[in-house]
Amino acid sequence: MFVPFIWIMVTASASATAVPYLNKTDFLRLQNGSDIRGVAVDGVEGEPVNLTEPVAEAIAAGFAAWLLEKKKADASQNLRVSIGHDSRISAKLLQNAISRGLAGAGLEVVQYGLASTPAMFNSTLTKNEAFLCPVDGSIMITASHLPFNRNGFKFFTNAGGLGKTDIKDILERAADIYNQFTAESLANSERKASSSIKKVDYMNVYTSDLVKAVRKAAGGLEKPLDGFHIVVDAGNGAGGFFAEKVLEPLGAITSGSQFLEPDGLFPNHIPNPEDKTAMKAITKAVLENKADLGIIFDTDVDRSAAVDFSGREFNRNRLIALMAAIVLEEHPGTTIVTDSVTSDGLTTFIENKLGGKHHRFKRGYKNVIDEAIRLNSVGEESHLAIETSGHGALKENHWLDDGAYLMVKILNKLASARASGIHGGSKILTELIEGLQEPAFSIELRLKINQNHPDLKGGSFREYGETVLKQLEKSIGSDPNLRKAPVNYEGVRVSGYGGWFLLRLSLHDPVLPLNIEAPSNDDAVKLGLAVLAAVKDFAGLDISALDKFLKSP
Ligand SMILES: *[C@@H]1O[C@H](CO)[C@@H](O)[C@H](O)[C@H]1NC(C)=O
Ligand SMILES: *[C@@H]1O[C@H](CO)[C@@H](O)[C@H](O)[C@H]1NC(C)=O
Ligand SMILES: *[C@@H]1O[C@H](CO)[C@@H](O)[C@H](O)[C@H]1NC(C)=O
Ligand SMILES: *[C@@H]1O[C@H](CO)[C@@H](O)[C@H](O)[C@H]1NC(C)=O
Repeated sequence: MFVPFIWIMVTASASATAVPYLNKTDFLRLQNGSDIRGVAVDGVEGEPVNLTEPVAEAIAAGFAAWLLEKKKADASQNLRVSIGHDSRISAKLLQNAISRGLAGAGLEVVQYGLASTPAMFNSTLTKNEAFLCPVDGSIMITASHLPFNRNGFKFFTNAGGLGKTDIKDILERAADIYNQFTAESLANSERKASSSIKKVDYMNVYTSDLVKAVRKAAGGLEKPLDGFHIVVDAGNGAGGFFAEKVLEPLGAITSGSQFLEPDGLFPNHIPNPEDKTAMKAITKAVLENKADLGIIFDTDVDRSAAVDFSGREFNRNRLIALMAAIVLEEHPGTTIVTDSVTSDGLTTFIENKLGGKHHRFKRGYKNVIDEAIRLNSVGEESHLAIETSGHGALKENHWLDDGAYLMVKILNKLASARASGIHGGSKILTELIEGLQEPAFSIELRLKINQNHPDLKGGSFREYGETVLKQLEKSIGSDPNLRKAPVNYEGVRVSGYGGWFLLRLSLHDPVLPLNIEAPSNDDAVKLGLAVLAAVKDFAGLDISALDKFLKSP
């Protein structure tokens, strides 16, 4: 009588999953390009948590399985994985969930705490056994500039950040693992994690490397930034370390720096160098403090921008121009790879003033970086891959998109100017981009595709978007004022009326973003009208943004 009772209990606990069922599609929807993104905490109406702790644990276990296969290792070989996070309020919960997933799969877990995304990649390269480096794999918990309730993961090995295909593979493994979770297996992972997790202050190693890089560029000076006043705005993300651990040891004054304390509710502004409010905040700090330079980072410090002494922003095309000027001094003639929305003036600047080559590729930082790596592999030398978003990677820094390293290159420039007796605050930087033509008018409009519209005939938004682009291409051909860009890798790019426009399909969403740059409002309207003429009959396309712009540009 007793035996069957036990038998029922065992069957019940073995077959009942410990978590609500989710299928593969549910998991795959967490993918955004080469990142994983989801809602990690409650607090926004209509956005229930879908990056739950068990989902995170399963994804980490999926990464463990992927890594073991990649490294041709088995669980007995103790592969080591580092975990870092930005300032989000869900960071600790997810860090613990990920640690359980990795430890449960037999991997060694090293937690770094608050860290930057690029530092996590670097931990796969650094040789420093005292700090348990190098690690075999690394996970950064971040959702970049997204709202406080979001979070996500980026994965690295010593070969760089994982791409789309690998992320998909990991999510597929995670779905299987997740649906086999039992109360027992979850408890087991928890036990393993709590007895084996190690903690290391890796950011100390990483920041001292950054400091060394600037000292070296300044010919070995201990305090090459002595006397420079540089203010940092970390937007309450993870970048606050830059003031105290990089600038101050180099001799810079950092008073007036702001929002350095991590705060996952981002009470001051979005940590995002593309955000106007954020750029205004750092500009104000530079002017009020009469600083030589301002530096701003995104939440996880893979992106950055700067502001010169006069309040002029080095972001978007201007940051690319500045970095191109610095890199082309070191590598004359090299190819600068950028994303697709860079301006025509930037091309002229890179090619005519700097003597380099501008290779305008697609949107997406991973696309831009991979393209630069590909060019090198086919014999075209490239040393810089950079997006208007502020993601920039240098060949000399293992093609790692590191916002802190970009700023270090700028600091090197200041320091070496100082070393050779030139001191004019950051005027030297401003002079480097002299001659860059900038459009008087610039706008991005988003034309949404209504996925449920009968005009799509049940097809995908992608197919529909491609049809719109084909039509635009056709209608451009018959307009003598317009000229299609001779080389173009994304969407339809057209020059005319002294400016240009680009209509392209978004990488992830049912949207056709339209960028227009022109010497005046009137010229921008002319370009907008050319687009309107081609797209107005597509009933599945919401052109209200374009209409609105044309009515009041
Ligand atoms: C997976 O589950 C979702 C609901 O969460 C459902 O809409 C979808 O049809 C399912 N997909 C498959 C392939 O079963
Ligand atoms: C997806 O990725 C794009 C490009 O990196 C980014 O702009 C967007 O905010 C991301 N969306 C989410 C939900 O993470
Ligand atoms: C998670 O929730 C957000 C916001 O509600 C949504 O945009 C996203 O598609 C969801 N992801 C998944 C995998 O359900
Ligand atoms: C990253 O790691 C490499 C290899 O150990 C090292 O040479 C470099 O200085 C590190 N970069 C940064 C920015 O810490």
